Amino acid sequence: IGIFDSGIGGLTVAGAIKRILPNESIVYFGDTAHLPYGDKSKELIAHYAVEITRFLLEEKHCKAIVIACNTASAAAYEALRDTYKGTVPVINVIDPMIEEVIADESLRNLGIIATKTTIASGVYQEKLSRRKPSLHYSALATPLLASMIEEGFYNSNISNAVLSRYLSDQALADIDSLILACTHYPLIKSEISNYYQKKIKLFDSAEEVALKLKSILKNENLLAVS
Ligand code: DGL
Repeated sequence: IGIFDSGIGGLTVAGAIKRILPNESIVYFGDTAHLPYGDKSKELIAHYAVEITRFLLEEKHCKAIVIACNTASAAAYEALRDTYKGTVPVINVIDPMIEEVIADESLRNLGIIATKTTIASGVYQEKLSRRKPSLHYSALATPLLASMIEEGFYNSNISNAVLSRYLSDQALADIDSLILACTHYPLIKSEISNYYQKKIKLFDSAEEVALKLKSILKNENLLAVS
């Protein structure tokens, strides 16, 4: 399975895949040369994603691709899916999250935090409005978080200060749930949860993506046996 992200964030997804599909072998590509993706244009990110996918398929002979990055999923998923239609399954991290969120009847006021490019793409907003118009949501770009995590600043005074600044934004007032729409953010999930005194529901896509991958591999007869 070829998995990629701009850096270590996608390892949160790779970890879930390893746990749910222990027989599969994984090639992980962290594009740290171009990190962070979140403040780059969609076109540039799509270009990186196409090149990485080509490398994983042609050089590493992967049988499926997981775009373990929300920003790259927002920028390049449709193009990659269409290019490899009928040959290689391509999975993004956004759709499994949307499915999980819309199935949850307990949510009233949902927050979404992500990189600038993901928020500006409007992909979460568009899918949520279309699939569940009754759900109230608000989206906030939190551009420093991915780089901060990548630099190892988490569970520290620095990360706490940056997080409090973002999470106290008016856009997120009164939320009862929050989508961590960047694969780096599960690494600060406990800090986020503590900020809200564990009172709100947090969603990250890792497990749902791994389950989705499992069902696709099964349907396509691509599961590794041992
Ligand atoms: N982990 C990525 C995401 O899910 C991107 C972080 C970045 O490079 O800005 O959006």
